[in-house]
Amino acid sequence: KKTNNQMLVIFGASGDLTARKLIPALFNLYVAKQLPKNFVVLGASRSDLTDEEFRDKVVNKSRYLKAKLDDLKENFIKGFTDMFFYEDLGGDYTSEYSGLSKRISKLNIAHGTDNNYMFYLSTPPNLYETIAKNLSEVGLSSQQEGWKRLIVEKPFGYSLESAKKLNSGLQQYFKEPQIYRIDHYLGKETVQNLLVTRFSNSIFEPLWNRNYIHHVEITNAESGGVEKRGGYYDKSGALRDMFQNHLLQIVSLVVMEPPIGDQPEEIRNEKVKALKSLRIMRDEKTLFDNTIRAQYVASEINGEKVKGYREEDGVDPDSTTETYAAVKFFVDNWRWHGVPFYVRTAKRMPTKVTEIVIHFQPPHHQIFRDSGASSKDNKLIIRIQPDEGVLIKFGVKVPGQGFKVERANLDFYYSSLAETYVMEAYERLLLDAMQGDATLYARADEVEAAWEFVDPILDYWKNGKDVRMYGYAAGVWGPENGDELIDDLGTWRNPGE
Ligand code: BG6
Repeated sequence: KKTNNQMLVIFGASGDLTARKLIPALFNLYVAKQLPKNFVVLGASRSDLTDEEFRDKVVNKSRYLKAKLDDLKENFIKGFTDMFFYEDLGGDYTSEYSGLSKRISKLNIAHGTDNNYMFYLSTPPNLYETIAKNLSEVGLSSQQEGWKRLIVEKPFGYSLESAKKLNSGLQQYFKEPQIYRIDHYLGKETVQNLLVTRFSNSIFEPLWNRNYIHHVEITNAESGGVEKRGGYYDKSGALRDMFQNHLLQIVSLVVMEPPIGDQPEEIRNEKVKALKSLRIMRDEKTLFDNTIRAQYVASEINGEKVKGYREEDGVDPDSTTETYAAVKFFVDNWRWHGVPFYVRTAKRMPTKVTEIVIHFQPPHHQIFRDSGASSKDNKLIIRIQPDEGVLIKFGVKVPGQGFKVERANLDFYYSSLAETYVMEAYERLLLDAMQGDATLYARADEVEAAWEFVDPILDYWKNGKDVRMYGYAAGVWGPENGDELIDDLGTWRNPGE
């Protein structure tokens, strides 16, 4: 695909995300010669910096770049840092942008970026609409000459209502096809591989329905706590921070019907349909039975004391924000009728891992009844991270007399494709947006459909009568009560155990 000459304007350029994700992603694209011939990055924020200071502060100090500096030639690095410029927005983001606009025009002429501008919003979300408005007022959303795109970071809304408001707010100034809502899970190679696993293998798709799938389990575990983000996290919680976006994106790819082709709208239309078919839980009894929340409490991990959630910096000591969320739900359509989905996410679990487990139905007639095989032995495990790969579990005969059945694995790991370079999520997403491919970005109706499902749970957790809040020691697989959700299936599959 062709990447046109263009300028990337980053709002919130002196922030953490720029240093941690965007600069390394751009650097990798630079090394891989994927950046357009004429390319400029203009950082904009409230700090008073010169171009040189910005290059020095953000670019050179980026940990990633530093590590690479040793084996790269100085002028090669300089070629990269020379692409960066900085514009001080003077105090705040709300005053008008004529200064910014002039600077953009000047850089555009000097560097031949063909009036193609990508605006990346990496500021606090309450500024998104204001920035869009200010850009539009100085003519920077108009596509009369060159294209204009807006990349919006998460969180996208705080509830269904605020997400709708944000969508319609942005759409006053930019048209929907110009808006790219980032969900970095969609940039992960293994998340995209879900589509390929399902739709390019005739050995899976025929089984991908209620006739052959017994239930679906998705676990997203992190070993870290809230780290330095206590202030943000305490207003968010696991359901908003991970479930509404990343996990429901994964769910939509597992659930969706085959798209008619691989074009962005073809895929996105099916994802929206999938999200709209999730059965929304409305009454308290259903919500009580099918949702579990919890917080990690202080504990010791490998001899080291670990704080409980309520003791973390920036967190209210009486906080009722969940760091663990588990939800069981059904999908109301022909394909999935009656198949339960179990999805959980948490901080401070034993390890960092994300995986999808498709549990197949047991054979209808068990011949080897006393053979030691469990009736739920057939599983397809899609490991999103780490050790990205796919694993199939199936029964084999133990050599010797009789029919003893044991479980065996067929596995594939991405790391075995030694020559293949796996792009990091932000790298892939940035390149896609630069090329105008929105397949891996969330559309307005997609985001709203996800909130529609999540809103009643949030409301119940906030206002419901018998809502429970469990505790779990930092470093375990969540509260014991988490298993209550799993019905007669026993326990969750804890990856690695
Ligand atoms: C972010 C959340 O969106 O995703 C964080 O805000 C979380 O709380 C992170 O830690 C997880 O991303 P990854 O790619 O490390 O799984």
